Amino acid sequence: MPYAGVIPRYREWLDLPPHTQTISLLEGDTPLVPVPRLAEHMGGGFRLLVKYEGLNPTGSFKDRGMTAAVSEAVGRGAKAVICASTGNTAASAAAYAARAGLKSVVLIPEGKVALGKLAGALAYGAQVVQVEGSFDDALRLVVEISRKHPLALVNSINPYRLEGQKTAAFEICDTLGHAPDWLCLPVGNAGNITAYWMGFRQYHQAKGTGLPHLLGVQAAGAAPLVLGHPVDHPETVATAIRIGRPARGEQALEAAQQSGGRIVAVSDDEILAMQRLLAEVEGLWVEPASAAGLAGLAAEIRAGRFDPHGKTIVAVCTGHGLKDPDAVLRRTPTLVTVPPRLDALEAVVV
Ligand code: F0G
Repeated sequence: MPYAGVIPRYREWLDLPPHTQTISLLEGDTPLVPVPRLAEHMGGGFRLLVKYEGLNPTGSFKDRGMTAAVSEAVGRGAKAVICASTGNTAASAAAYAARAGLKSVVLIPEGKVALGKLAGALAYGAQVVQVEGSFDDALRLVVEISRKHPLALVNSINPYRLEGQKTAAFEICDTLGHAPDWLCLPVGNAGNITAYWMGFRQYHQAKGTGLPHLLGVQAAGAAPLVLGHPVDHPETVATAIRIGRPARGEQALEAAQQSGGRIVAVSDDEILAMQRLLAEVEGLWVEPASAAGLAGLAAEIRAGRFDPHGKTIVAVCTGHGLKDPDAVLRRTPTLVTVPPRLDALEAVVV
């Protein structure tokens, strides 16, 4: 049977109501890419793989949850969807709404959304509204307006989003034949870590695939789960996870603790250095937030808090590098220009 997306692939594992009408862009089925050179850079002696979620249809893992949320909304007759977003959820909601013939409205924090995400949301025809404030302000507003008006809320407080997102855990177990020893991933609004934990537990109960320890990673300037209190003015270069009041924060902490893992914070410099290393030694370009999981792993190993020896570790890289071209262009000095002559070219390249 040809691949048809995460809902048909895992239908019996997903708690979706009978009225669900599948709307799919053939999301999921993303590769688990071995990154041995990067593992060597971290000291070696373990098996490191990247779950490359940037290869989803709109360039991020959000498509897994969005197919589920929009399919449910369409099935109950919704005519419009709404979400708050740091960008990826917006692009994904807009694409799936377009696919379903629904209107989409996305609220984004003013001036803090990476170019590829904003362009995506506009390309798919969303009504884009900027909020003078943070993602957290935008989330509060969409919760309020969706209570008063017939707008289906598709943020990850919508339970069907998690049903879709947990399929990534199933895929990892199906590919490896078992759960990894550790799973590292960035944490923003905390839906994804919650969904992974649901998925791993469900598969383990049914198939005995084992459970990973979870290493959730926040940006130091937006690390409410590490600090133990909300952050009123979150700030980080990893704008995808620039969130101070994660909607599923409690569940994320519980998941990390139950798994025997933890949630840690890394600096923006560590995130950008990892983004660069992954691209330059493995050929995988991910957006800054997506490098946070690996940056957290590297920092834990460096500090001697984590012994990776002999382990199988999966890092989730949540979004494609093309989402945020500015993050790379900012660090690039002016480009070299030559006249169209061989000697001039030789002078700069050999
Ligand atoms: N990585 C990327 C690329 C993201 O876009 C997000 C969240 C996360 C990680 C964190 O996932 O929120 O489930 O903990 N982006 C949301 C958005 C907030 O609006 O696109 P989380």
